[in-house]
Amino acid sequence: MDILVRDLYKLPVGAEFSGYFVIEHVEIRKHRTGDPFLRLVLSDRTGTFPALWWKPPKDADLGIFKKGDVVFVTGTVEYFQGSLQPKLKEIRKADQGEFNPEKFICRSRYSVDDQFTVLLETIESVENPYLKTLLESFFYDDSFVDKFLKAPAGKTIHHACIGGLLEHTLGVVEICETVARRFKTIDRDLLITAAILHDIGKVYEYAVDISISRTDEGILLGHLYMSCEMVAMKISEIKGFPRDLKTKLLHCILSHHGEYEHGSPKKPKTLEAVALAYADALDSRVKGFEEFIERELGSEKGWTKRHFAFEVPIFFDGNFNYGEE
Ligand SMILES: [Fe+2]
Ligand SMILES: [Fe+2]
Repeated sequence: MDILVRDLYKLPVGAEFSGYFVIEHVEIRKHRTGDPFLRLVLSDRTGTFPALWWKPPKDADLGIFKKGDVVFVTGTVEYFQGSLQPKLKEIRKADQGEFNPEKFICRSRYSVDDQFTVLLETIESVENPYLKTLLESFFYDDSFVDKFLKAPAGKTIHHACIGGLLEHTLGVVEICETVARRFKTIDRDLLITAAILHDIGKVYEYAVDISISRTDEGILLGHLYMSCEMVAMKISEIKGFPRDLKTKLLHCILSHHGEYEHGSPKKPKTLEAVALAYADALDSRVKGFEEFIERELGSEKGWTKRHFAFEVPIFFDGNFNYGEE
């Protein structure tokens, strides 16, 4: 049996379980007697849980378990101070091919080909020749596109899956198209270009293996700066690119998290920048709710636990419908 973390939370105290999980955290601790035990945090794509390997065999080498390893465990459900904390009977490193990698990292459920076609059509619709050339310099470059199509848009909060960046980018583009139709004073080409490029730094901010992690570069620089740097470098190769257009575009990217406390070094100060910041927040927040409901509840109705970032429990009373026939 290979149980999902989501289903582990539904088992009664004393139930036995087994499954493959990724080690998120591991430490060797000591009982009062001096005997060692392992304290772990294990995960799959549906959640995480703490666990204890309370009584390892005397000859067990506890030092072989490292963060990022996939392990097979068996254990018994126990709770400590109201929180799930199973005790493990057995833990061993899993071999490649023994488990299904899809258990650990999800993929965008929308077709990559269909979404990329829409993105290219959107680029085609941009009339400003400088902005169009800039977009083409990224999206006609196979090595960049290869990375872009695989990248997630987040580690945990939203679009935390392979293909998530493409899905989120198109979501933001669609919202921006609507806003640009409603507000005629908005420079539509500038807003759409900013929407397409706003998160491209995530291609280098995240690394995707068996789980999603932030790279050193991502932690040290962040994708707002990284996206700006990538865009500025391409612009420097485009002859005659207007300086004020560059400033306005970089401002949109640099301010797209809206607030200083959300990591924006600048607050939005143009029509296009404020539209992009709200479009980004809208797409990521609704998707974040959707992913959390799916992770926590599966296909059931009811309440999730309190979301660690949104700070509310989420109520779901419908059916997941992704427009599939
Ligand atoms: Fe962002
Ligand atoms: Fe974004």
